[in-house]
Formats: sequence, structure tokens, C-alpha cells
Amino acid sequence: MSILVIGGAGYIGAHVVRLLQERGEDVVVVDDLSTGTPDRIGDSPLIELDVASEGSEEVLTRTMTEHAVTAVIHFAARKQVGESVEKPEWYYLQNVGGMAKVLTAMRQTGVTQFIFSSSAAVYGMPDAELISEDTRCEPINPYGQTKLIGEWMLANAERAWGLNWTALRYFNVAGSGWADLGDPAILNLIPMVFDRLARGDRPKVFGDDYPTPDGTCIRDYIHVLDLAKAHLAALDHITDQRDHVFNVGTGTGYSVREVIDAVGQASGLDATPDVVERRAGDPPKLVASPARITDELGWTAENGLTQIVTSAWDAWQAGPRRIG
Ligand code: WQD
Repeated sequence: MSILVIGGAGYIGAHVVRLLQERGEDVVVVDDLSTGTPDRIGDSPLIELDVASEGSEEVLTRTMTEHAVTAVIHFAARKQVGESVEKPEWYYLQNVGGMAKVLTAMRQTGVTQFIFSSSAAVYGMPDAELISEDTRCEPINPYGQTKLIGEWMLANAERAWGLNWTALRYFNVAGSGWADLGDPAILNLIPMVFDRLARGDRPKVFGDDYPTPDGTCIRDYIHVLDLAKAHLAALDHITDQRDHVFNVGTGTGYSVREVIDAVGQASGLDATPDVVERRAGDPPKLVASPARITDELGWTAENGLTQIVTSAWDAWQAGPRRIG
């Protein structure tokens, strides 16, 4: 019996793979290696495959049968908001099409447990102090739409053939659980600040005239190791939870300025930022209510901003782009 982790060689997936390995589970990884690397998954078997590609159902079906797969954790997806606006068709093909193929293979082989990487992007621009799972879902870009459609696909599969599923709506994921598993991309605030500092430039604040205490946007930063643990909690409760969708956040928001200050503290570098224009489409404040996942799955975040930024810094320094 084994757990299939699709996208297991990527930033978040590799953390889940390592936690599963640590508790003695048999893990098999499918990954197209577009952003992930094989050195992240230890000695678990790796099948190199883009699940959205022609004929992937056959490879997935064979993998599920050969490895006696009982549960699938599905990370593999494209996740750049701006790119999704530029190339909406490709996002639908990749994220929705890929998932349809995974579900087809599961139905064929009788695998009935599925954990899905959803996103706070399903909410769009909510006007709520704390976002609960009952907050209206009105995604404002194709990326967020593909995640919401993914949740619908799972609900449909439950009705049609009895799938057991959980979707985790991630807030702003950062940090590293192990220094060799840092975020390799430079697409989010913390790695973007590191990258500016590595080049000898000042970090940028995208607008400081938002209706927040210091004028910069507030987000709920979640440590990637805490997020990975939420997947194990979801797996352990896959047949007995009341609800299917759960926010994964801390319930505490930090502003862009607070995050940049924390990077200055963690690195010992001068992280004084420049304030530039607002970036289009940024909601002023996005903070999760994590009440549901705590109640039903017994999960709560253990790490705060300091641990997130410090661990992200340690991983950055362990990698090829170290500073100093
Ligand atoms: C955080 C804040 C920026 C860089 C995005 C996606 C979301 C999810 C996570 C994934 C914002 C500000 C950033 C910089 C800055 N995606 N910023 N200077 O936009 O909250 O969420 O990533 O699966 O769907 O939308 O995250 O890290 O890009 O930005 O001031 O150099 O930092 O404007 O307010 P975001 P982010």
C-alpha cells in the first residue's frame, strides 16, 4: 500500500513526501520536474510525467496498480496568477485537464482518497476581517478559477463514485522545514526580498497607501512545514471529517513592511525598502480563520513569522544564491 504524491518533487510536495517517509509510509512520486528536482524526494520512486499530457491516464493507472496506491495527494499545477491571465487556456488545460486525468485513473483503479492543493485565491477580493470557508468564492483570475473548479470536480466525483476528498485552501506559504527544501522560485514576497538583497538592491514595497495600519498589504503567512502537517492530518481524517474544504492559515496577518523588517532581523542585512506603485489586483488584507481545520482535523500552526523568515533565510543561504 502506498501514497501517490503528484508534484511531490516541488516545494510544498517535497515537505509532505519527507513527513510521510519519516512516519514510515511507502510513497511514490509523480512529477514533471518543471519546478521540482529529484534530489528532494530521497529514495521514493519517481515517475517523470506531466499529468496533463496526452496518454497520462495510462501511466497513472499503471502506477496506481503497480504500487497498490490507496490515496493521492495532488500538488501538481501551474500557480502564477499573472501567467494565468496571459495564458488562460493553458491554465485550464494544465490544472483542470490534469486533474480530470488523475481522477479518471483513480476511478479506473478504485483509489478513493484524494487531498487537493486549493488556494485562498478562490476567494478573490473578500471584504472580511477573517476569511472563513463560508466566505463567498469569487476568484478574480484564471488561476483561482481553476482551483475552485478543482474543488467542484472532487464534489462531483464524490457524488458519482464515492470519492473521499479534502481540499486545503492555502494562504501565503513560505519558509522551509529543512534547509534543502527551500522555495526554489522567486515569485513571492520573501524570496523576492532575498533576491533584491542578493543583487545589492533595496526590497520593494508595492504600495503603502492601502487602508491598513502601516498602509501596506496584510497577508496570513503559513510555514510550509505546518502546511505539510495539515496534509497528514487531512489524510488521517479523510473518511471521518464533516467538511471537505479547509483554510490553512494562522489567523494572524502581517504587513509587507513587517515581513521585510523580519527579513532584516533574520539576515542581519539592511533591508530598508523602496516604496513603488501598487501592483494590480492586490487585496489590502487576506487573513484566514483557521477555526474549522482546528476543530475538525485537530491541526493548528506551530510557527510564526520569525520562524518562517528565519527558515526561509537558512534555506536561501544553503542554496546556490547565498548572500555574503
Ligand atoms: C504578498 C504581498 C504584494 C513582492 C500570491 C497569489 C496567491 C498564492 C500566493 C499560489 C502583496 C507584496 C510582493 C514584493 C511587495 N498563489 N509584495 N513587494 O499576492 O498575496 O499571493 O501567492 O499558489 O494566489 O496571488 O503573494 O507573495 O506575491 O505578495 O510589496 O517584492 O507582498 O503586493 O501585497 P500574494 P505575494
